[in-house]
Amino acid sequence: MSLNRKNMYGNRACCFYFAVVVLLASCSGNYEVYKDSGANLEARVEDLLARMTLEEKVWQLNQLILGDNLNVNNIGEEIMDIPAEIGSLISFTTDPEMRNAMQKRAVEETRLGIPILFGMDVIHGFRTIFPIPLAQACSFNPELTMQASQVAAKEAKLSGIDWSFSPMVDVARDPRWGRVAEGYGEDPYLASVFGSNVIKGYQGKALNDTFSIAACLKHYVAYGASEGGRDYHATEVSRNTLWNVYLRPFHAGIQAGSATVMSAFNDISGVPASANHYTLTEILKQDWKHEGFVVSDWNSIEQLVFQGAAANRKHAAELALNAGVDMDMKDLCYKDYLPELLEDRKISEERLDDAVRRVLRLKFTLGLFEHPYTPIVSDSLRYLTDEYRNLAREVATESMVLLKNDNDILPLKFKKIALVGPMADDSVNIMGSWSCHGKATDVVTIKAGLEASGLYEIEYSKGCEIDAVLPNGLADARRIAGQNDVIVLCLGEYAWWSGENGSKSTISLPKIQKELLKELAQTGKPIVLLLSSGRPLELYDVEPYANSILQIWQPGTMAGYAVCDILSGNISPSGKLAMTFPYNTGQIPVYYNARRQARIPYQSQGQGRYKDIQNEPMYPFGYGLSYTDFKYGNIILSDSIAEIGDRLKISVNIRNMGNMDAEETCLWYISDPVSYITRPVKELKYFEKRMIGSGEEETFTFELDTYRDLGYYADDGNYFVEPGQYYIMAGTDSIKLILK
Ligand code: GLC
Repeated sequence: MSLNRKNMYGNRACCFYFAVVVLLASCSGNYEVYKDSGANLEARVEDLLARMTLEEKVWQLNQLILGDNLNVNNIGEEIMDIPAEIGSLISFTTDPEMRNAMQKRAVEETRLGIPILFGMDVIHGFRTIFPIPLAQACSFNPELTMQASQVAAKEAKLSGIDWSFSPMVDVARDPRWGRVAEGYGEDPYLASVFGSNVIKGYQGKALNDTFSIAACLKHYVAYGASEGGRDYHATEVSRNTLWNVYLRPFHAGIQAGSATVMSAFNDISGVPASANHYTLTEILKQDWKHEGFVVSDWNSIEQLVFQGAAANRKHAAELALNAGVDMDMKDLCYKDYLPELLEDRKISEERLDDAVRRVLRLKFTLGLFEHPYTPIVSDSLRYLTDEYRNLAREVATESMVLLKNDNDILPLKFKKIALVGPMADDSVNIMGSWSCHGKATDVVTIKAGLEASGLYEIEYSKGCEIDAVLPNGLADARRIAGQNDVIVLCLGEYAWWSGENGSKSTISLPKIQKELLKELAQTGKPIVLLLSSGRPLELYDVEPYANSILQIWQPGTMAGYAVCDILSGNISPSGKLAMTFPYNTGQIPVYYNARRQARIPYQSQGQGRYKDIQNEPMYPFGYGLSYTDFKYGNIILSDSIAEIGDRLKISVNIRNMGNMDAEETCLWYISDPVSYITRPVKELKYFEKRMIGSGEEETFTFELDTYRDLGYYADDGNYFVEPGQYYIMAGTDSIKLILK
């Protein structure tokens, strides 16, 4: 059975005809339909569009910056004399008065009074900073991410923001690429679920709700495949991988109603994402029927010249608009050349109007014409309420992943702690990249969190800088280690070592940090290693020296309390890896959902194996320890034979064998051992996280839809399901299903 991609016209045709009728009525008199909040949406769009001059239309398709540019990677001169007819502004300020003053110019001083759309990068919190998205994915608790997004939207909206450039749903398999921190890991399904929950949290029930903001799926598409993990570089992606890996989270995001999409920087196998008609128009707008608009990434239109796709900026504007980019972020190619291109008949008025229509439609839907200004609310009411802090603490606690815990050294039984390492009292890097308006002074450091608990006697020594020697640091750290029962060693990365333009040639910890670890290991005291990073790290030469390893990622404002929750045993760690930890950098790329290699049967005889290291990663996708043990029963299948289109009930019992209540995530995979186009060894299709009481047993159920969960895309984007054998997997068990 296959679903042919075709253009279905739903009820939009009737709206359009209705709009025309109203439009004719409005042209007969002074009735300005677009100003009538009770009028039909499409009628308002058409009425306003009909009144616009070419210059007014072109300005709607441009975005500039209001105030300072806080994104150091966004290079370009400041445009100070911003016209009030501008379509959108990136606003890096928290000052609603600044927004309102600019908006007043647009609404009250321009001919048509079209409000400006204010956007910015709210990636994992606005002022209350939640863990980086990669960490949130490890929580396998998308409901918490949805709630965190609601908080971010409220703080942003009250600071003058209508639109966030997130969720970033780029599937990524190369941890050298710094932007793995911003996404949801290596699995398309996981990225789909988390991206959709961010959209739900931002956009609420209606975009014109008081605290709703518009979402922006980015970076469309396949940016995570940047070669060598080098940011802004080209990608080589087969159509099959494009459809089955990189497009899936975007399709889910469109189905979740994302208001906008951002076109990516990268070249996609020879056609840059911001000039790619196939992805931007044929797939996104025609096949998926996206009615919102596409904004280019920063300068990604002008960059078509550097990428060898456009001869000059005018040609770049032509390629981008015709491909399907509706709004130009910052490089003014549209402002400079669209009128000329229209005159030269290089672009059509129909396409230009389509782009303007999409922008206006969002502005009407957001309610900007009725409520263009931000209410002025004090910071104490706007930010960091106890509710927000408690949620940030919960998300951080659930996102941490216990990688090693020899002899159950955790939860801590010791009272006297030697707290060591450059991350122990860090309040900046612990927030991660894209920390928006998070302030270091808001952060609960690891040291502060442990001290506040009153559970421990703590002696602190930094030991070293993140990437530099600290005079007498090693000796001082060794000294306090000798005087205490256990060493809690906090190592990790600068925030700017990941995120945009944060590529690294190695995912190893800095040399000085490994020296500190080895120095402390010589004391013979047990070491609990906490790792704060924006990416999976190389740990093969670190792991042997630590008794316990907790990957805390970059947990944000409430870092210290979350760390203490875990170390003290107040809460059992429940995170599982959303991205593989390679054995070492040389093993990259290594990810769980890879296709099968040709000599599996002879691997034990060395076939297809490295000569110098193991083939297996250090820690695989889905790995994470708990303070208890969970025993999985056998998988029960409602029917072992089914037909395409059937839905099956599959269940497994999971028992908590320990003496501590703890959450467990059941990951459900499918495997298709023989297929027309070869598939990954296994594919995540569902997951469920639940608390299981000590000694208790819970039944986890997966409602498998044979069409939705067993099918895949061919190169042309047609989705199909093949009859044959499949395996359903959970825990260590797998069960066969015959599909007729
Ligand atoms: C940056 C990023 C993009 C961000 C935009 C605005 O270059 O690539 O993710 O949303 O510019 O800051």
